[in-house]
Amino acid sequence: MTEPVYTPPEAGPGSEPPSGTARPGGTQADGSRPDGPQTDPASPPPGPSPGLRSALAGVRAEVGKSVVGQDSAVTSLLIALLCQGHVLLEGVPGVAKTLLVRSLAAALSLDTKRVQFTPDLMPGDVTGSLVYDANSARFSFREGPVFTNLMLADEINRTPPKTQASLLEAMEERQVSVDGTPRPLPDPFVVIATQNPVEYEGTYPLPEAQLDRFLLKLVLPLPERDEEVEVLARHAAGFDPRDLRGAGLEPVADADVLARARAEVSRVQVSREVLGYAVDVCRATRYSPSLSLGVSPRGATALLRTARAWAWLSGRSFVTPDDVKALAHPTLRHRIQLRAEAELEGVTAEGVLDTVLASVPVPR
Ligand SMILES: Nc1ncnc2c1ncn2[C@@H]1O[C@H](COP(=O)(O)OP(=O)(O)O)[C@@H](O)[C@H]1O
Ligand SMILES: [Mg+2]
Repeated sequence: MTEPVYTPPEAGPGSEPPSGTARPGGTQADGSRPDGPQTDPASPPPGPSPGLRSALAGVRAEVGKSVVGQDSAVTSLLIALLCQGHVLLEGVPGVAKTLLVRSLAAALSLDTKRVQFTPDLMPGDVTGSLVYDANSARFSFREGPVFTNLMLADEINRTPPKTQASLLEAMEERQVSVDGTPRPLPDPFVVIATQNPVEYEGTYPLPEAQLDRFLLKLVLPLPERDEEVEVLARHAAGFDPRDLRGAGLEPVADADVLARARAEVSRVQVSREVLGYAVDVCRATRYSPSLSLGVSPRGATALLRTARAWAWLSGRSFVTPDDVKALAHPTLRHRIQLRAEAELEGVTAEGVLDTVLASVPVPR
């Protein structure tokens, strides 16, 4: 798998694209633009600001003070924040899903709320509701837990469709309407919904049409042995997951840094050839004999968004086919559906995506 692992701007290949392809700032060695005729050679777009990139690299380091490993997930969550997109997070209990989200919020000075999605949770428990205030003899709106920056929706499959729908509506519209009055949600607002891959008993799987609304689906693996030993070593040394400050985790960026980074991401250039490549990858899924459902045009636009954010994080002002490849698995894996026969034969969504990426010609 080719999921992104963030390289801080100070070191490593992220700061310097492979020689011969392009230089930071988006110009070729000969001074020409790498991204085709749509850019104005007189005023090349500025590359990512080093200050913003290193602030976000700092977030990575802070999260690492509490969470061991899971680098790819941390990077992907940063990409989601840069795109204001929602995330499905799959993993068995106890692989630090909650710790990861809380640490990310702390490092970014963002508000976070966690909701356990139980079978008896009501829509108003998520969005908020009107409550009667005896003092003023009036109804007033009491905000639900969606009024936050990073909402951890734990085990979203355990709640019935009506409550899932209230969350999905808030995700889509970035506002809550109760009693006809729209109330905007904070900025940023990103939902991280967890799913347990094992328990299907007594759950309500999200319909395909709803899965498409999540920008990314991340799969948190079990740690490697040495990582797990490090987790235990930290516990032995007194690490308390409820006390992130005590673990030395400091806020190193905030909503304003994210907003400025987001503005830069929206200026990252994409050539017609790279757009064509992203489209070809998505179209190829629609013709795969193993799939009953391929990636929709909405999924293709999602791939463009995540590839752009990844290009920016990698220090470039333009998207390469490799950026598209790097984000294909987390962006597309939940947007395709295997045929039952293929599933029985042991075909997986990841395998289909690998085949597609290997077969679609890459523009040069
Ligand atoms: N990769 C890891 N890094 C640090 N601690 C971990 C890691 N994986 C598990 N843990 C430990 O296990 C605990 C359970 O994690 P939690 O975030 O509650 O898991 P989940 O939400 O996935 O069920 C954490 O508080 C932490 O002590
Ligand atoms: Mg948890």
